[in-house]
Amino acid sequence: ITGDADEGEKVFRKCKACHAVGEDARNKVGPHLNGVVGRAAGSVEDYTYSSALMEKAEEGLIWTPEELAAFLENPRDYLPGTKMSFAGLRKQEDRDDVIAYLAQFDMD
Ligand code: HEM
Repeated sequence: ITGDADEGEKVFRKCKACHAVGEDARNKVGPHLNGVVGRAAGSVEDYTYSSALMEKAEEGLIWTPEELAAFLENPRDYLPGTKMSFAGLRKQEDRDDVIAYLAQFDMD
């Protein structure tokens, strides 16, 4: 992980309407993101994912830094049918930084 977590906290402002991390993080429009770096896709138990995401989950997708970066660049290209309505992070630096930020939060 090569990004800057402090910069990533700023990038995460774009995600916050839909996602929470940290102590007491709950699912919002999207699932909580504690432990998401290295987490199995579609694995938050009490969250209802799209069938597009669940298909990837059944294929065994793990959110490695590389897969996260590809998803976040353009969610709907990476995962047609996803219900994540977000245009994406077009700058590689923003993707690297937000992944470094997210890597700080373990599954609790
Ligand atoms: C799913 C990250 C922005 C709504 C996800 C997942 C990740 C993620 C990693 C998959 C989680 C899993 O498999 O458990 C991010 C990041 C964002 C961002 C880092 C900002 C850069 C947003 C925004 C929204 C949103 C702005 C709402 C407008 C969702 C929804 C899902 C999701 C609804 C479930 C997708 C599905 O089931 O197809 N997000 N997200 N996300 N996110 Fe985001």
